[in-house]
Amino acid sequence: MNRSLVIVGASYAGVQLAAAARESGFDGRIVLIGDEPDAPYQRPPLSKGFLTGSLNEARLPLRSQAFFDEEKIEWMPSMRATHIDRARREVELQNGARIAYDHLALTTGARVRKLDCPGATLDAVHYLRDLRDARRLAQSACAARRAVVIGGGYIGLEAAASLRQKGIDVTVVETEPRLLARVASPWMSAYMQRAHAENGVAFAFGRKVVALRPLLDAVTVVLDDDTHLPCDLVVVGIGVIPNTELAAECGLAVAGGIVVDEHARTSDPAIVAAGDCAAFVPHWSVDARACRVESVQNANDMAKIAALAIAGRPQPYRAVPWFWSDQFDLKLQMAGVNTGFTHHALRGSVEEKKFSVFYFRDDALIAVDSINRPQEHMLARKLLANGARVAPHEAEDAAFDLKGVMQ
Ligand code: APR
Repeated sequence: MNRSLVIVGASYAGVQLAAAARESGFDGRIVLIGDEPDAPYQRPPLSKGFLTGSLNEARLPLRSQAFFDEEKIEWMPSMRATHIDRARREVELQNGARIAYDHLALTTGARVRKLDCPGATLDAVHYLRDLRDARRLAQSACAARRAVVIGGGYIGLEAAASLRQKGIDVTVVETEPRLLARVASPWMSAYMQRAHAENGVAFAFGRKVVALRPLLDAVTVVLDDDTHLPCDLVVVGIGVIPNTELAAECGLAVAGGIVVDEHARTSDPAIVAAGDCAAFVPHWSVDARACRVESVQNANDMAKIAALAIAGRPQPYRAVPWFWSDQFDLKLQMAGVNTGFTHHALRGSVEEKKFSVFYFRDDALIAVDSINRPQEHMLARKLLANGARVAPHEAEDAAFDLKGVMQ
């Protein structure tokens, strides 16, 4: 049967969905529409190796052009989808063309939240979401001596570490009283703060930026306690907003994200959604509330679930969530979600910067953060996937064989 699949959004989720659709036997037309000019690329290195200069652009593409050719995936760069006509099953493009679909996938991702204060659009202000942002920032960083990073989440901290590694003075401004408050435990927040402080990063916690003022060829960042931070570079990483407008405009259910069920299906049976733009009730949820999960893992795994739904072989989305971040000499890897944890246990050596923190909610192991312990992180993912029983005293005991609990 000659069906067609149109995918809107050509980053991790979109590319993976196209690949997974082919793997699951979809032999119809696949059109992948993306509004960026560059071939789909890896985003995590943009705030890390790409910014420090240790990784060049040639290593960024997610897939080669040969892959798209061989799999007959029609990738359309620099093209925005502007409207979805659900009654006619057509997607309208910015150039007025219409593409018919039998299946539509929305993998539209998220865009950066913009700073909203006087001076927010000065040239010295940078965001870090796409390759164009990253090129401009890497260029500006070559000549910079002092930087202010606004936001102490993953993006802010990775940018801070990369800029410090280039010898730039860095101050991080964060509205919350601690770093990574959205995702990390207080213990891990404190650990990461110490690591940054040891590498010379300065902090302003609990502070808001009220204005950015031009200062000769530099900028002063003004905080709400009237602190003035002069610098020649500002990097803003204050979170993202899901791209849900296309979905909302055509009447799909949207609530903080494009609402999908456990098979990545939206409120229209012909339309799936996956990745940063999609809101769902995850299997690990403590309150049965829908949320979005912003990660490469989620984009890839959810895209595979969406492809199976399209192939008529729906599987529930049950993957263990995991995240990672590289900052200075620390590889932070997180498995599971620690929401509502009641206690934690430490395994390994904090002094040697090789350890894991195991989080428990009552008797259940729910998450593990690892620093420079990649094998333990992989094991943690397996333990969590298998619902393995581990006691806190066992997790703490370096001699205890964690692999053994799965047998
Ligand atoms: N001033 C200072 N800090 C702010 C402000 C503000 N006006 N607004 C928000 N923040 C802080 C938040 O408290 C939070 O600690 O910015 C941080 C943003 O962190 P995240 O929500 O993790 O977002 P970000 O770091 O921008 O990452 C965006 O990219 O790499 C991915 O996984 C990452 O999906 C995430 C996305």
